[in-house]
Amino acid sequence: MSKIVLTGSSGLLGGAFQAILSDIDLTHLNRDRLNTANEQTLIESIRSSRPDVIINCAAATNVEGAEQNPGDDAAANTRLPGVLAQACKDADALLVHFSSTGCYGDWKTDPYVETDEPQPTTVHHRNKIDGETAIARSGCRHVIVRTGWLYGGAPALAKNFVWKRLLEARDKTDMTSDASQRGNPTYVGSLARQVMKIIDSGETGIFNVVAHGVASRFEYVSAIVEAAGLSCKVSPGPAFARLAKVSPNEGAVNVRLQALGIDIMPVWNESLTMYVQGLLQSQAWQALGNEATERASSDR
Ligand SMILES: NC(=O)c1ccc[n+]([C@@H]2O[C@H](COP(=O)([O-])OP(=O)(O)OC[C@H]3O[C@@H](n4cnc5c(N)ncnc54)[C@H](OP(=O)(O)O)[C@@H]3O)[C@@H](O)[C@H]2O)c1
Repeated sequence: MSKIVLTGSSGLLGGAFQAILSDIDLTHLNRDRLNTANEQTLIESIRSSRPDVIINCAAATNVEGAEQNPGDDAAANTRLPGVLAQACKDADALLVHFSSTGCYGDWKTDPYVETDEPQPTTVHHRNKIDGETAIARSGCRHVIVRTGWLYGGAPALAKNFVWKRLLEARDKTDMTSDASQRGNPTYVGSLARQVMKIIDSGETGIFNVVAHGVASRFEYVSAIVEAAGLSCKVSPGPAFARLAKVSPNEGAVNVRLQALGIDIMPVWNESLTMYVQGLLQSQAWQALGNEATERASSDR
């Protein structure tokens, strides 16, 4: 069995890999052990653990923050992947790394394919592309996955977009959501399973990996509210003001996966409905219902 090193396991995607690889003895390299200030020590410590595969889910993911603090973003999204790539080259291991469909930029209205030239429009996405370049230059065996609009994880996860929309819709009668921005809402569990299939295939290089079908933020939020059966009315609204000039089109198609016959990604709203229904069964959601009942009876 392959020896797998996982970085970023406290994050959204890293958590999904932990869940699907629960029967494997994973080696975790978390933030405190990923110090790029001492590159050689990091490379040595990785080499000594003799990995077959490093799955790198560590990244700085605050796109707005990167505009104000580009150095921190570059350390995690450019320098770290470069060092991990060097370690993989030395250890003859495969590096699996995650990039973004946002890197394609804003020059097309159709969803992007892997052969489209990235023309990033934000600091974060430029750093992600520089990370991809550092990996390619190292000469290590690698899989680079361009993905986007990830959701999943437990309700308590700070970045749980779907859970936050459920709470908002539960408390409001009306809400608006950006109708101009488009992407592929993608469940992290599906992404992690698809990545394991790519690893098993032995194929390397760049892959788009997103759920099938493109949606606007408005359609995405509407689907969350509808799947939960909540009565809140969702209306299309304008884009909110941002420092980062994020492309309005982050949609993509998994052309390489389809050509190889290994595309197991679901249609976006089918996996979203299943995930929302799971959240409605969660203790956290049930507890909200109990609180409301208690409040109503104490008001009487
Ligand atoms: N989420 C999306 O919608 C999305 C879209 C496109 C691409 N992606 C890519 O998918 C991958 C996984 O993203 P995610 O959503 O799972 O991210 P996430 O939830 O923000 O998790 C990021 C992980 O990286 C760690 N980390 C952050 N800064 C670090 C640093 N400087 N050095 C070492 N570790 C650091 C975090 O550790 P702490 O817990 O200690 O902070 C956490 O474990 C990333 O490459 C991301 O760019 C995500």
